[in-house]
Amino acid sequence: MSKNFDVVVIGGGPGGYIAAIRAAQLGFNTACIDEWKNEKGGPAPGGTCTNVGCIPSKALLQSSEHYEHAGHAFKDHGIDVKGLSLNLPQMLGRKNTVVKQNNDGILYLFKKNKVTFFHGRGSFVKGDANGYEIKVAGAAEESITAKQVIVATGSNARALPGAPFDEELILSNTGALAITEVPKKLGVIGAGVIGLEMGSVWRRLGAEVTVLEALPTFLGAVDEQIAKEAQKLLAKQGLTVNLGVKIGDIKAGKKDVSVDYTDDKGNAQKAVFDKLIVSIGRTPNTTGLNAEAVGLKLDERGFIAVDGDCKTNLPNVWAVGDVVRGPMLAHKAEEEGVAVAERIAGQHGHVNFNTIPWVIYTSPEIAWVGKTEQQLKADGIAYKAGTFPFLANGRARALGDTSGMVKFLADAKTDEILGVHIVGPMASELISEAVVAMEFRASAEDIARICHAHPSLSEATKEAALAVDKRALNF
Ligand code: FAD
Ligand code: NAI
Repeated sequence: MSKNFDVVVIGGGPGGYIAAIRAAQLGFNTACIDEWKNEKGGPAPGGTCTNVGCIPSKALLQSSEHYEHAGHAFKDHGIDVKGLSLNLPQMLGRKNTVVKQNNDGILYLFKKNKVTFFHGRGSFVKGDANGYEIKVAGAAEESITAKQVIVATGSNARALPGAPFDEELILSNTGALAITEVPKKLGVIGAGVIGLEMGSVWRRLGAEVTVLEALPTFLGAVDEQIAKEAQKLLAKQGLTVNLGVKIGDIKAGKKDVSVDYTDDKGNAQKAVFDKLIVSIGRTPNTTGLNAEAVGLKLDERGFIAVDGDCKTNLPNVWAVGDVVRGPMLAHKAEEEGVAVAERIAGQHGHVNFNTIPWVIYTSPEIAWVGKTEQQLKADGIAYKAGTFPFLANGRARALGDTSGMVKFLADAKTDEILGVHIVGPMASELISEAVVAMEFRASAEDIARICHAHPSLSEATKEAALAVDKRALNF
C-alpha cells in the first residue's frame, strides 16, 4: 500500500470524509485518517454528526415522536392504542443500528472511491510547501506523506466552568443521546439547537424538562415572529424554558445534580435534576493534531485560521467544517470539503454562505435561510413580508398538524427573495425550495407563479410568496 499520498484528510466527519471522496473522484491518491472508535474499538467514521450528533439525534427524535403520537395524536385519527409502553433499550438499540449503518456506509464509500482509510489519530510531524509528514497513531503507528492536507477535526461540546461532563449526571450531547432510564426531572442549560432537540426527545418520553437559557430572547438568531410562534408551540407541549437566567454553582451528588441560578427577575433559585444536559455551544477540536510542529495558525478562539477559500497560513494545508469559522453544520462542512478538493484540482470550488439552510428538528420543525426581519431592519433594507399559516393548508389539516407558518421576505423594489422562515410540519424539507430559489436569485413572484402539487405542504410556500404581494388565495 502506498504511504505517499496526493491528499491526506485528517478527520472523517462530514467535512473530512466528503472531502476525501471528492478528492478521489478528481483523481488524487487520497487517504482519510479518523480516530473515532465504536464500542468494540473498531473504526466508526462519520464524526460527531454520525456518531453523537445529527444522525442519532434524528433517530431518537423520530422514535420519540412516534411514541408521543401513539399516546394521543393517533386517537384523533380513530386509532385506539391500548397498553402503550416504552421500550427504551429497543429505542436506543435502533438508534445505535442507524449509526452503525452510516459508519458502514462511509467505509463502503471509501472502498468504492479508492480512498485509503487509516483508523487512528493523525498528527503533523513536519512539512513545508513540498509536502507534509503525518504520523498515524492507531493500533500500530505509521508515517505517511501528503502533498496536500485537509484538516477536518471538528468540534467538542463546551463544558461550564466547574461542571465537567461525567456523562452520568452532567451530560454533553454524547450522554444526552444515551440515557438508559427516562429521568423524572431533566435540566438543560442552553436553549439552543441541542437543548431544544434533546429536551424535546426526553420530554416526549416522559421527563419533566426545564431549559435554562442565559439570553433574554428565545432563539435570538431566528426570525422574531417565527421564534415567538415556536416558543408558544413548545411551551404548549410542556417544555419549560426559563430565559435570562444566570447559572451559578452546579453540584453533582450521588444520584442528582443541583443547579443554583438567578432568574430573570434577579431572584436566587435552586433546581435539582436527575440529569443535566449542558448544551451551551461547541469548541473547535485541534487536540492531538500537533499544529505547533508545522506552525499551523489558530485564531483567538481556537479555530484554525482560514481565508474565504479555507486556506490556512501554511502552503497546501486547508481546513474545513466545525474546526473553522462559520456555522457548525454538517452540510456547511460538506460543502467546504467539496470546494477544497476542487480548488486543489485547480477548479473553482464555491460555498455560498448566504444560502446555507438551518433546521431545528423540534416538532414542529423550525427552518430558515437568508435574512431575518430584524436583520433587514437593522441593515436598513426595504422589504415586503408575506406569511401563510399551515392552518389554511389542506395537506396539513389531513396530516393533523396545522401548527406554524411560512414567511417570505422579499426586497421591496426588486422582489428578490431575501429570507424564508418556516415553523411547521416538514420544514426541513420545505426549506430546500427556498434555498434553490435564493441560489438562483429568484423573486417571490417566481415562486408564486410556480405550479405546486395539491394537496401538499409546499403550497404553503407558494401562498406565502403570493402573500408578499397580498394575494394569497387560501387565506
Ligand atoms: P466532526 O463531525 O466533528 O468530525 C471530526 C472527526 O475528526 C471526528 O471523527 C474526530 O474523531 C476526528 N478527529 C479529530 N481529530 C483527529 C485527529 N487528530 N486524527 C484523526 N481523527 C481526528 N448539523 C447539521 O447540519 N444537522 C443536524 O441535524 C445536526 N445535529 C447535531 C446534533 C448534535 C447533538 C450535535 C452535537 C451536532 C449536530 N450537528 C448537526 C452539527 C454537526 O454534527 C457538525 O457540524 C458536523 O459534524 C461537523 O463536521 P466536521 O467534519 O467538521 O467534524
Ligand atoms: P447553540 O449555540 O445552538 O446554543 C447554545 C445556547 O446556550 C445559546 O442559546 C446560548 O445563549 C446558551 N448559553 C451559552 N452559555 C450559557 C450559560 N452559561 N448559561 C445558560 N445558557 C447559555 O449550541 P448547542 O445547542 O450546544 O449546539 C452546538 C451547535 O451544534 C449548534 O450551534 C449547531 O451549529 C450544531 N447543531 C445543529 C443542529 C441542527 O442543525 N439541527 C442540531 C444540534 C446541534
